[in-house]
Amino acid sequence: QAADDYQQMELAAKYFAHQLRKHPNSARVIDYLKGRGLSGDIVKSFQIGYAPAEWDGLLKALAKSQNDKQQLAELKLLNNNDSGRFYDFFRDRIMFPIRDRRGRVVGFGGRILEGDGPKYLNSPETRVFHKGRELYGFYEARQAHKNQLEQVVIVEGYMDVVALAQAGISYAVASLGTATTTEQLQMLFRATKQVICCYDGDRAGRDAAWRALENALPLLTDGLAMTFLFLPDGEDPDTLVRKEGKDAFEQRLGQAQSFTDYFFEHLSAQYDLSTDSGRGALLSDARPLIEKVASEFYQELLTERLAKLLRRDVSQIKSHVKTQKAASNKPSEALKMTPMRRAIGLLVQHPSI
Ligand code: CTP
Ligand code: MN
Ligand code: MN
Ligand code: MN
Ligand code: MN
Repeated sequence: QAADDYQQMELAAKYFAHQLRKHPNSARVIDYLKGRGLSGDIVKSFQIGYAPAEWDGLLKALAKSQNDKQQLAELKLLNNNDSGRFYDFFRDRIMFPIRDRRGRVVGFGGRILEGDGPKYLNSPETRVFHKGRELYGFYEARQAHKNQLEQVVIVEGYMDVVALAQAGISYAVASLGTATTTEQLQMLFRATKQVICCYDGDRAGRDAAWRALENALPLLTDGLAMTFLFLPDGEDPDTLVRKEGKDAFEQRLGQAQSFTDYFFEHLSAQYDLSTDSGRGALLSDARPLIEKVASEFYQELLTERLAKLLRRDVSQIKSHVKTQKAASNKPSEALKMTPMRRAIGLLVQHPSI
């Protein structure tokens, strides 16, 4: 009886972990991990491993039959070339197993030690691995907190999750190098009420933060909170937590910017609000975003602040929205009571809110 896909993935994780302990050439890998501040315990708890610099290491260890080879190739643990020969997909890389929410290994991230080639090589999509649906470290974080997660920090990278756990911050997850997707955010908000986005202190990290905010708007119901921690230029959670330690980093997390602050800081930085055209552009950018927010309470907050920024009162914003809708040629849409309109209605009825 052949092993199923998840068993094969688990066996692969065990194989890589075993190579880190036993392979004759793994000393430099262990030195590398130590150099990055990781203890043996943390390496073990994330089951970090090593794919040796061989063409047939995993192949020999796991593939007993032609069927196994085919299956391992479908799981992208093996490649095969034009002449039908199979060989290891990951070679000479530090291996991070990616587990799904139930703890099953579904993919791997492999970091190069040095030299040429992409820094990370990730499992491509397979029938068990769908990148936008998984979060590295989510299973481990839930295990560490017995499924009672008060807050979750989203970071960019494998090493950020592991370094934070090493420092004692065991509630970080990574979105696998892509923009954080709606599916990933949905998964998180089912497990916690408080999500802190903490991407790298660079252009890419700041762009990722705004995309995460846009994706989160339809999920933000009353009682859920999303905040943003922007790191100093050139830092990522790994470098910063090693420099500053747990307490200082948690203090930063506690002072992260609310999504409403970040929303307007980001939008208003793009326009000259001393001009009519700048204020008009802000209004037309902000309005559809505010309409996406799931929580009426947050919609009220955002509408109030938008009015303040535009130096209008809320009822003027309301009439603008009405005009926009009335001008549209979809009468059913124009008549619909959107949450935005309800929020504005509330504000007009209760100007003290
Ligand atoms: N990433 C990737 N492929 C790359 C580079 C990055 O998949 N060639 C993903 C990885 O998940 C990586 C994350 O994007 O962890 C963040 O990238 P980056 O900030 O460049 O790497 P770090 O995680 O900081 O890696 P390290 O600290 O090991 O240099
Ligand atoms: Mn897919
Ligand atoms: Mn980066
Ligand atoms: Mn980084
Ligand atoms: Mn890093």
